[in-house]
Amino acid sequence: MAKDPLRTKLCDMLEIEYPIISFTHCKDVAVSVINSGAFAVLGEAMHTPDEIAADIKWIRDRVDGKPFGVDLVLPASVPLSGTLEDLEKKIPDTHRAFAQQIKEKYDVPDPKGPIALHQWGGLNQEMARGQLEVLLEERVPVICSGLGSPAFILDAARERGIKIFGLIGKTRQAKRQIEAGVDAVIAQGYDAAGHTGAMGTFSIVPEVVSIAGDIPVIAAGGITTGRHLAAALCLGAAGVWTGTLWLASRESDVDMIVKEKLLAATADDTSYSRCISGMTMRTLKCPWTEEWSKPEAPPVLPAPYQMLLSSEYIQGANDNRREDLMTEAAGQGVGFVTSMKPARQIVFDLVEEALTAIEDVTGELP
Ligand SMILES: Cc1cc2nc3c(=O)[nH]c(=O)nc-3n(C[C@H](O)[C@H](O)[C@H](O)COP(=O)(O)O)c2cc1C
Repeated sequence: MAKDPLRTKLCDMLEIEYPIISFTHCKDVAVSVINSGAFAVLGEAMHTPDEIAADIKWIRDRVDGKPFGVDLVLPASVPLSGTLEDLEKKIPDTHRAFAQQIKEKYDVPDPKGPIALHQWGGLNQEMARGQLEVLLEERVPVICSGLGSPAFILDAARERGIKIFGLIGKTRQAKRQIEAGVDAVIAQGYDAAGHTGAMGTFSIVPEVVSIAGDIPVIAAGGITTGRHLAAALCLGAAGVWTGTLWLASRESDVDMIVKEKLLAATADDTSYSRCISGMTMRTLKCPWTEEWSKPEAPPVLPAPYQMLLSSEYIQGANDNRREDLMTEAAGQGVGFVTSMKPARQIVFDLVEEALTAIEDVTGELP
């Protein structure tokens, strides 16, 4: 009998049925995906250590011992430590003035509460390490590093039976992480939502596969249909890592206004820019991204300073639910996200579409 094309070494490693990983910030999405036979990684970079511990418990109570992952950002380029006030003092007046100009031009309202982005692990390394401690203590089955090399936690993770995955956007980053001994590499292409590099998914995935040996390579960036999943396996990936796909799912806690924007959006509605965090990032276009792309805009600040500057706009827009101002990380595959399906249905549709795509190419029913 022909081998099941969706049964990959990633499935064996993670003890899952389908080689699909959902990156999500929503616990309900994560639980639904895990209980459908795929894998979920909860993005916790914006949360305090206590919140992370509570979320881990919440998931554990609902997945009957099945494994899951947690993602943090560990960028080495941000300051080692420093209070928010220390960091904010470093923002030049020219940049504050430009942000103020945007605020006035678009009548951006003030945030309604404290700015949540200010507990982002990407603000300083001390903050990220505090978050990491919880994951080690809780022995989370998989820890993923969304930004920065996780090499420094490998020993501590091994001692606790934790697997470490690293997300990369350049082949040389993958090489370093593979040499350091990560358990899997997520090769993420330019199409992706959120922080992403300049290499396309179709180029980076096979390039990383060619140097990875037995280490599973997981493809990310623009994967929103089963045809993408089938193609990723043909490129040599052992699975897919997806973000945009889950944002408008039934369970997702993304604001309904943003869900509707996502359902209507195509690749053209996304922007690739450093103006939100100081690092290249793909999001839905919004007045903030459009204004910073104009020639009169000052040069974007490095991380984490640009994020401090943009966070007031983002939270002002979100807290006041201003449709014209709101944005969200979204990848170029967003054009295929056209209905609000339950997460379980998204998993099964991906599987069915992938098998059909493989059958179309090989003429054989897998
Ligand atoms: C709303 C949103 C927020 C994201 N935030 C993070 C993050 O905090 N850490 C991370 O490693 N990746 C983050 N990503 C990127 C995803 O992990 C994933 O690599 C990306 O979404 C894959 O591309 P796709 O959206 O085309 O599927 C985010 C993605 C989305 C959609």
